[in-house]
Amino acid sequence: MATVQENPLSVGLEHLPIDPTTLVIFGATGDLARRKLLPAIYNLAHEGSLPAHFEMIGVARRELGDDGFRDYAGEAIERFSRRAPDAEVLRALLERVRYVSGSLDDATTYGRVAELAAELEAGAGVATNRIFYLATAPGLFEPAIGGLGGAGLARPERSQARVVVEKPFGHDLDSARALNQAVLDVFEERQVFRIDHYLGKETVQNMLVLRFANGIFEPLWNRSYVDHVQITAAEDIGIGSRAGYYDNAGALRDIAQNHLLQLLTLLCMEPPVSLAPDEVRNEKVKVLHAIRPPHPEEVADMAVRGQYHGGTVAGEEVPGYLEEEGVRAGSHTESYVAVKLFVENWRWAGVPFYLRAGKRLARQSTEIAVTLKPVPHLAFQGPDAAGAAPNQLVLSVQPNEGVSLSLVAKVPGARIQIRPVNMEFLYGASFLSQSPEAYERLIVDTMRGQATLFTRRDEVEAAWAIFDPILRAWAGDAAPPTAYRAGSDGPEDAARLLERGASWRRV
Ligand code: BG6
Repeated sequence: MATVQENPLSVGLEHLPIDPTTLVIFGATGDLARRKLLPAIYNLAHEGSLPAHFEMIGVARRELGDDGFRDYAGEAIERFSRRAPDAEVLRALLERVRYVSGSLDDATTYGRVAELAAELEAGAGVATNRIFYLATAPGLFEPAIGGLGGAGLARPERSQARVVVEKPFGHDLDSARALNQAVLDVFEERQVFRIDHYLGKETVQNMLVLRFANGIFEPLWNRSYVDHVQITAAEDIGIGSRAGYYDNAGALRDIAQNHLLQLLTLLCMEPPVSLAPDEVRNEKVKVLHAIRPPHPEEVADMAVRGQYHGGTVAGEEVPGYLEEEGVRAGSHTESYVAVKLFVENWRWAGVPFYLRAGKRLARQSTEIAVTLKPVPHLAFQGPDAAGAAPNQLVLSVQPNEGVSLSLVAKVPGARIQIRPVNMEFLYGASFLSQSPEAYERLIVDTMRGQATLFTRRDEVEAAWAIFDPILRAWAGDAAPPTAYRAGSDGPEDAARLLERGASWRRV
């Protein structure tokens, strides 16, 4: 039996004490730290969820000094926190913050971090766990790991050290393997927390609860009842100022390889024995292993890539991908991807899973739509039956977090006329509270050493193995991605992936 302590998703976790912690953020002045990590840490402080002994060290190249970084962090929190900061909580948090300026290619930077961490620990009078959060450009992950090892920070004698590695974890299967090797040369797997922030989203965690704490879905959750599944991560935003990263990545690496495959594994996995990290991750890895990577000649039939040209999004004229600042002239990087996958096991054989992600689509919407098979015989005929449609269960991750089940119902009146209606559960309406940001949950989990919502070595490699053949085929393809208009639902060409008369849901 798992104890409460071992079960990271069990009710009451938030009341378990967290050991004294020093959180070191590498890349502390970067975009991720500014928009997500610093505000998340503030909100944890606001809710009293940080450990009693908490210190934070920001590390980046900029010459700032402690006070300069405190000002920077305070502004980031004011601007991006989901709640307006309380002056007293913010002041108390910033007092715990220090800064080390240095290059991550330079070994002395890690020496200075080690000295400062030891000084803070001596001041606190307790051994503190250390979390090293790599929120840097991916090219700095390996130097940072090496630097931490070289400075003796990976194996403290009196406390725990953990490393949090942001995405993208590698660029393809080979580079992910090499990065795993570099990480595991220095840290043990139990110390490594590979982040996929989708796993920290309330609605994504709710998939586990929905599936495994309700009896109603399990009998239907298989090839006998499910016709197909669509997993969509549509964004209306473009690439902003991230061309340096995005133009080398593209939608498949940026979203599909990680966020969409994570949603797929949670949807398809067998019920885990408990929610202990390896119980859940073992089941997720089995799903990934059941997906056969395509042969090169199959790629065209199972994947579509697209790139937006200029258009109108939410009433605003926006430029095309190739006009975005920092994008290489004539770039073939895809800003949209759609793929068809099959999970070849007893539960799912023959059920198509359609995944799509794109920038500059009509609106922001992340959802999983499970379409059930049509009824075997429909007694209602003629025009009055035109509204009949197979049942669909839609798990909406954002922006309208909730679950809806479409049913067909009789329109009131003397005739039997039918049309689809929805049964809905909306987070906002049922719980009346604001969901925490994904990073809040995940940062607390790293401090507790709970890895259930983080990806394991074999998991990340299995995910790359599925998409490697697609990436290779695209790299060798001289044809540009299919164009789609910004503000549309993506390239019409994506419809060719769909089988048995299915159509894409509107974005
Ligand atoms: C990130 C991607 O991982 O996820 C971004 O790099 C994307 O390109 C973002 O915009 C989407 O996250 P969310 O939480 O806004 O759905």
